[in-house]
Amino acid sequence: MRSVKKLFIETLGCAMNTRDSEHMIAELQSKENYEITDDAKSADLILINTCSVRDKPVQKLFSEIGVYKKLKKKGAKIGVCGCTASHLGDAIFKRAPSVDFVLGARNVSKISEAVNTPKFIDVAIDYDESNFAFSEFRASPYKAYINISIGCDKQCTYCIVPHTRGEEISIPLELIIAEATKAANSGAKEIFLLGQNVNNYGRRFSTNSDKKIDFSDLLDAISQIDAVQRIRFTSPHPLHMDDKFLNTFANNPKVCKSMHMPLQSGSTRILDGMKRGYSKEWFLNRALKLREMIDDVSISTDIIVGFPGESDADFEDTMDVLEQVKFEQIFAFKYSPRPLTKAATFDNQVDPLIAAARLDRLQKRQDEILDAIALSKQDKILQVYFEELRSSGFIAGRSDNNALVQVKASDSVLGQTHNVLITNPKRLSLYGQIVD
Ligand code: SAH
Ligand code: SF4
Ligand code: F3S
Repeated sequence: MRSVKKLFIETLGCAMNTRDSEHMIAELQSKENYEITDDAKSADLILINTCSVRDKPVQKLFSEIGVYKKLKKKGAKIGVCGCTASHLGDAIFKRAPSVDFVLGARNVSKISEAVNTPKFIDVAIDYDESNFAFSEFRASPYKAYINISIGCDKQCTYCIVPHTRGEEISIPLELIIAEATKAANSGAKEIFLLGQNVNNYGRRFSTNSDKKIDFSDLLDAISQIDAVQRIRFTSPHPLHMDDKFLNTFANNPKVCKSMHMPLQSGSTRILDGMKRGYSKEWFLNRALKLREMIDDVSISTDIIVGFPGESDADFEDTMDVLEQVKFEQIFAFKYSPRPLTKAATFDNQVDPLIAAARLDRLQKRQDEILDAIALSKQDKILQVYFEELRSSGFIAGRSDNNALVQVKASDSVLGQTHNVLITNPKRLSLYGQIVD
């Protein structure tokens, strides 16, 4: 029997980091007998899987390392992984000598080597893991995250991700299909496809492939797997939302009718400065077309307020898109200047107080929009796939169009789909009763 080691892992950032954490756990467990703990004090290995997209979480990282250093047991190791590892590299050892290794977001498969090599560091962003067969670990038995590409080629002027995750490479179709089949056959009826730019899938593979395949073809191929019931994905890019993609999205019954459309700004002038590649009109055209094609579609978005040079008029354009689309969910943040990015060098940075006031106005208006959306769900019946037992005792699941629905029921409904009558709709969650 190999001795049992305890692993504590803190995952910050986006769904790609969530999947990277699963991959690291799988790799560690394939070599040594690791079990997961939520008590850092008892852990033999403490991993922090970091995010770099805004400055705040990066600042928080060093105070957290300080906390773990104090509470960890003797001999336990601390590893910093993920996007901040990629961008700060060696500087992490200098600022926090208690850190044992630094492993970049593009080097996840080297986790065991990192743990077992003193002061290991690898933050190369040109390392290609697109063909690496990771071992199996999934935090949820009901939903399977699957990477379909790594990296990002877009170079949006505000964004650090291309500098932490390197160039964009699609994962071969055969690997994705094999992974989705295995996960679905073992009970994960919902497949969640991940990439920074999913609808650019198939543009480049690391081994020369003469196969022509795009994201719409990939969705159709995955939907052929019998055990797969629902397919979700994030993030698609508004620029690549051509008619073929919208038609596949609308017409494939296994593709869930919730679309993430990261707007960033409603002003075409600001979108140019961000190098997003689309205009306000294109975005509205695609979003309103989706609303027209699919009755019940939900649309979520990401918004940055206070990008360099954003005037009152530019911000009004963002508010106008909010009014016209009426997003079911938004993730809005103040612009945060990031190292290595072009926009951080622009000389027309917006006063943080003005940006804060704009963000506040945007969020208040969005709350009103969400209240109206919630109210419209009263007495509706939604089909919900249950996947989580909450500490409140409620069982939570998602409707096809991604509304969070909670019911009081036995946990035997986990992994099942039921019709739910919405009796108490709230802004952030709809409460109801299972009717069949
Ligand atoms: N690939 C995705 C986004 C990945 S980053 C896309 O293109 O939409 C997730 C979100 O973080 C972005 O959509 C953006 O809204 C936000 N973000 C990225 N860089 C930022 C910055 N410098 N300041 C504030 N928010 C930022
Ligand atoms: Fe960042 Fe733009 Fe790539 Fe999204 S598409 S990860 S915002 S560079
Ligand atoms: Fe953050 Fe890296 Fe994701 S910077 S948002 S964890 S790609």
